[in-house]
Amino acid sequence: MDPEQVKIPAVVRDRVALLRKEIIRHAYLYYVNDSPEIPDYEYDALFSELKSLEDAYPDLIVPNSPTQTVGGAISSSFEPVVHGMPMMSLDNVFSEEELREWMHRISRLDDEVTGSLLVVEPKIDGVAISLLYRDGVLVQAATRGDGITGEDVTANVRTISVIPWYITDRCLEGKVPAYLEVRGEIYMSISSFEQLNKVQIEKGLKTYANPRNFAAGSLRQKDARITATRPLLFWAYQIGSASDEVTHNIRSQTEALQYMSDCGFPVNPEIRTVRNIQEAVDRCVDLQKCRHDLPYEIDGAVIKIDDFDLQQRLGSTSHAPRWAIAYKFPPEEKVTKLIAIEVSIGRTGRATPYAVLDPVTVGGSTVSMATLHNEDQVRLKDVRPSDMVIVRKAGDVIPEIVGHIPESRPVDSQPWKFPDRCPSCGGPLIRLAGESDTYCITIDCPAQKIQRIVHYASRVAMDIEGLGEKRVDWLVSAGLVNDLGDLYSLDRDRLVAMSGLGDLSVSNLFHALDESRQRPLYRLLVGLGIRHLGPAGARAIAREFGHLDAIMNADFNELSVVEGVGSVIAQSIQQFFAAEANRRVIDNLRKAGINFGDVVIGGVQGGRDGGGMQSGGRDGGGMLAAGMEDMSDQGLLPIALTGGEAGAGAVQTLVGKSIVVTGTIEGLTREEAEEAIRERGGKAVGSVSKKTWVVVVGRDPGVTKLHKAEELGIPQIDAAGFKDLLETGQLPD
Ligand code: IVH
Repeated sequence: MDPEQVKIPAVVRDRVALLRKEIIRHAYLYYVNDSPEIPDYEYDALFSELKSLEDAYPDLIVPNSPTQTVGGAISSSFEPVVHGMPMMSLDNVFSEEELREWMHRISRLDDEVTGSLLVVEPKIDGVAISLLYRDGVLVQAATRGDGITGEDVTANVRTISVIPWYITDRCLEGKVPAYLEVRGEIYMSISSFEQLNKVQIEKGLKTYANPRNFAAGSLRQKDARITATRPLLFWAYQIGSASDEVTHNIRSQTEALQYMSDCGFPVNPEIRTVRNIQEAVDRCVDLQKCRHDLPYEIDGAVIKIDDFDLQQRLGSTSHAPRWAIAYKFPPEEKVTKLIAIEVSIGRTGRATPYAVLDPVTVGGSTVSMATLHNEDQVRLKDVRPSDMVIVRKAGDVIPEIVGHIPESRPVDSQPWKFPDRCPSCGGPLIRLAGESDTYCITIDCPAQKIQRIVHYASRVAMDIEGLGEKRVDWLVSAGLVNDLGDLYSLDRDRLVAMSGLGDLSVSNLFHALDESRQRPLYRLLVGLGIRHLGPAGARAIAREFGHLDAIMNADFNELSVVEGVGSVIAQSIQQFFAAEANRRVIDNLRKAGINFGDVVIGGVQGGRDGGGMQSGGRDGGGMLAAGMEDMSDQGLLPIALTGGEAGAGAVQTLVGKSIVVTGTIEGLTREEAEEAIRERGGKAVGSVSKKTWVVVVGRDPGVTKLHKAEELGIPQIDAAGFKDLLETGQLPD
């Protein structure tokens, strides 16, 4: 090539340098600060000018040019990223003894373990991320995925203000590394999370399950502008792959943490380097004590051998390093006063007793009530008003009352008696012989009405944004809505005048209602709240009959032969449609133009949010127990509800993944577990093969499947892991 041809005029070089600087500044203002200085078209013009100059002078292209690194805000899918070094998980210990045993075990592998330094770090309850810097510029951010392959979430991660776009030159005497992978945890502070849920409740919207799920959902937004609105934070805790100047100079975890901090990464101030296992144990105990004083959630401590050479000699098992261990904190228990036992009424009339507690912070959140399930449970736990009770909460599980403190029981204490009148309508509460549940049998009971409408609007059913418990309660109390059909004949002006809601909120609500008219038939079936009929059965019935009228006219045999339905559901469907009041509701829905015929079976109505959602009010007030009743009515126990519900509209966390479920997963039928996988874009398959991504192992699993999984080295997870998997699409550690 003629050397003259590649000569680049100085004016071009200068212009390119200026364009890059400007583009990066504007991208930062746009994605991170959310305060663009120039309109999009001007930004696009700068970008395309740079692009055309680089096209004309390809020698000018450098890896950290915005044309190579700054993608668009919207990514239509997350590209797979194969990690240079697998992102391993950690083995867990649950007590001081087990921690010492770990130390003992690895001391036998290498003489230098005894006497070596250890690093104790908080185990952040967030989402693991790998950040790749070339020539000091962030070029790629990837989730952990299955540890080998993650997902490219670069555009989203660029919106997190504490994650540097550039490595500062304070590290290693001003030398920016050619290549550096920093690993750490993206998380959300507890206060931001609480603030977020407060706003959700005020708006009558659904609350998010916990900060971790919310962070995970935020990271998987298709539109980075949404991620940019989420207050995400980051702690760096590991150097992954790096170029020689780093690996030669940084020889311990303590040095690595200092180096990452010098490079501009946030490094957790609670991390300590200690001299022996006793000091490590002491630090774990201290962290456990102060865990709830920290502004973010931690679920344990991670203890690491400090020296990198020693780490390397100890090596790893197939899934976790031997040189590190996670010390998991036990579920937290607190004592508080049980102020009263009250009863809430669910949509089927089920009366669920729950404890009203003196608010207490436990397991990272304030607990002011806990379900007591039913009359027998109250008796079994022997809890009474004015008792001091022990409340337990682990992670995001529903708080539970473990028992009472006998010594502090007042002398005049009396056992609690289940009320015989409904707290909402005053009608009789009936418990049939041989059953553990008590029911309000008044058809017109306002509490049931409210819960039926809330369920109809919920994400598992018709997915109507803006119809949370608070708003429905108001609509019913104001006399504007009496049954489901009334939702569609609300008068806009009257609603604005009476509710005090702004025009925008009302418009949004009407828009959401309008959209719900086109939901597929199975969602309508779920929304009607037919006892025992969950999303899986509803799909099967909808697929078989294709129209609501055909289902209403079907006889018992026709219904019960549908796969996955059976006689209990068939009978329940018939009873439902036989009731005059229900037929009236159906007529009203028909008049409102709701889709009764199945046009979109299997169509996934895109979820509105990636954060783990839960029904409104579960944490947010006196409706907790009612929400719980709804779960069991659906056959959906907390596993499905603390995170993305097992209904369509769920976030597509499992696209293309083959998953085998074996054994019983508590709270879900096999069908429902498989349905939950399908709803999230995954494939629920019947037998284990090389293509299987993970095997979900419930109670009494199939031995052949387990053997096969072991033989092929397919990861296995339990029910809790399954829950995480549904919510985040990530394999648990
Ligand atoms: S080190 C090979 N340090 O815990 C070891 N992990 O259960 C890599 N985590 O996937 C992990 N805080 O997402 C490490 N200070 C910390 C951590 C931490 C939280 C997470 C991380 C990892 C999981 C393992």
